[in-house]
Amino acid sequence: MGKGRLEGKVAIIVGAGQQPGETLGNGRAVAKRFAEEGAALLLVDINAD
Ligand SMILES: NC(=O)c1ccc[n+]([C@@H]2O[C@H](COP(=O)([O-])OP(=O)(O)OC[C@H]3O[C@@H](n4cnc5c(N)ncnc54)[C@H](O)[C@@H]3O)[C@@H](O)[C@H]2O)c1
Repeated sequence: MGKGRLEGKVAIIVGAGQQPGETLGNGRAVAKRFAEEGAALLLVDINAD
């Protein structure tokens, strides 16, 4: 895989969890996509679970 567009970048994503269920929460979706692009992530959510 080539160099990601976010290699060397750090992203802080607030609300990175999601409610239980089949849907993909916005924060979780962004976290997964940014990780695919090589970002280092700090994931934050009000719900520790
Ligand atoms: N997910 C989708 O595909 C989608 C599409 C269109 C619109 N929306 C809208 O976007 C909004 C969010 O949807 P979602 O699916 O991402 O929700 P979600 O509930 O799955 O995820 C939100 C996350 O944010 C966390 N959170 C809430 N308050 C917080 C706080 N103060 N600090 C830190 N974390 C906090 C929650 O614990 C949860 O993990 C809703 O209004 C929804 O209607 C979502």
